[in-house]
Amino acid sequence: GITRHYQFDIQMTNVTRLCETKSIVTVNGQFPGPKIVAREGDRVVVRVVNHASHNITLHWHGVRQLQSAWYDGPAYITQCPIQKGHTYVYNFTIVGQRGTLWWHAHISWLRATVYGPIVILPKLGVPYPFVKPYKEVPIIFGEWWKPDTEAVISQALQTGGGPNVSDAYTINGLPGPLYNCSAKDTFKLKVKPGKTYLLRIINAALNDELFFSIANHSLTIVEVDAVYVKPFSTKTLLITPGQTTNVLLTTQAQYPGANFFMEARPYVSGQATFDNSTVAGILEYENPKSFSSSSFNKNLPLYKPTLPALNDTSFATNFTKKLRSLANVNYPANVPQGVDRQFFFTVGLGANPCPQNETCQGPNGTKFSASVNNVSFILPTTALLQSHFSGKSRGVYRSNFPIMPLMPFNYTGTPPNNTFVTNGTEVLVVPFNTSVELVMQDTSIIGAESHPLHIHGFNFFVIGQGFGNYNPVKDPAGFNLVDPVERNTVGVPAGGWVAIRFLADNPGVWFMHCHLEVHTSWGLRMAWLVLDGNLPNQKLPPPPSDLPKC
Ligand code: C2O
Repeated sequence: GITRHYQFDIQMTNVTRLCETKSIVTVNGQFPGPKIVAREGDRVVVRVVNHASHNITLHWHGVRQLQSAWYDGPAYITQCPIQKGHTYVYNFTIVGQRGTLWWHAHISWLRATVYGPIVILPKLGVPYPFVKPYKEVPIIFGEWWKPDTEAVISQALQTGGGPNVSDAYTINGLPGPLYNCSAKDTFKLKVKPGKTYLLRIINAALNDELFFSIANHSLTIVEVDAVYVKPFSTKTLLITPGQTTNVLLTTQAQYPGANFFMEARPYVSGQATFDNSTVAGILEYENPKSFSSSSFNKNLPLYKPTLPALNDTSFATNFTKKLRSLANVNYPANVPQGVDRQFFFTVGLGANPCPQNETCQGPNGTKFSASVNNVSFILPTTALLQSHFSGKSRGVYRSNFPIMPLMPFNYTGTPPNNTFVTNGTEVLVVPFNTSVELVMQDTSIIGAESHPLHIHGFNFFVIGQGFGNYNPVKDPAGFNLVDPVERNTVGVPAGGWVAIRFLADNPGVWFMHCHLEVHTSWGLRMAWLVLDGNLPNQKLPPPPSDLPKC
């Protein structure tokens, strides 16, 4: 492979959306941020210079970072933030991955405006396992707030309640014609008839899973989270925050004189309040005669897609179950067939007592909280990876992450009286090359809600899922160990469970969290500590000299 160099200048930029201008954090003044393009096997070097007064880190979401944990990016997990006026050079190789991933800020809620695509092309001369697309187009969903997003979350954390919901969803930063004064801010995909396009779809929204559909066209899913899947065709797809999905779109053979809307709006499994608005973009067939520069051509008929209802869990479940690894000779699914350690994580919302002199907006005047195995993870003030490497973990973290027995009580039944969680910075230590089976069970202690769980540093196989309480006797019989989908972010269904397997072959400290930013902020996060192996290429290398200090 070759080395690809990028310069990312973090700066404040004025951006106008929904008739209001605000100053946002951007990379190189671009919103969304620049696209990173590399081939499988290439080295990517990104020099990040922070000119803004916000502390920042960047994360390369889904990049495995084999033995390069120092460049993974989550603040206070693998590194201290890059402070104003400071520089950090991220430097990593893309090993065994091709497809679409993305990058985003990984501190507080800065990823609301600091994100962009990572396009990983196959090695030179290696074709896609599907028809060669005529063109490739990134489609990134985002969420836009009129107020400053840092203010939105700090207000929520102070009152112990939920944050305000966003004011719009966006496609490639644009809200589209269904929002006030946004017709001029509409994403337009100009296409030619009878061609196949590869859409590289990314959900960078902070807090919502999204349905997406294009009127009168179907989508063929070919890849998720930079892993090829068995292709299937669908009218609508579902994508959680953190996930990526590549689809083929074949345009109609003749020039159809029409405006075809593409739309995204949330799938909501339980949130009390959410942004239920719809972002639209336009699929426009290039026609020299009726070419229009406005958002859409008013003289042509308008077709809108039919999206599933906001709470259509059966659509969501059927769609997710269709995802299977390609699992052929060229792209085998290396599902761990044996298991060294089984873990059971409860993931869900809970509460903490309201601190004195505060008024909390959680249930019964408590403070909203979220937890994994009842521990609400507190971010340390220095980075876990540095403390681990230097052997100075005392006062930074503890290795007492609670090991839960399978099913100590009925998680989806009547809530217990005590909904309180404990706070802590606990890591889960596993030896190098442990084959892990992890069952994640949503709890309905405060209310069932689906949680897109993301793990850093690994892909995992989704071997089973179901509703209600996981049954350790019966459910493993239904596990798919042949062609389960391989990914880095999976939705734990509301009031249900999901089972995954992965091989802990990457030494370092790896963050795992709900990719709904509000749940992460409430504590639905934890960290794995994967120890070094014995061979030199199984060890965490020493930190780079420019690693930021806290
Ligand atoms: Cu895309 Cu830890 O996140």
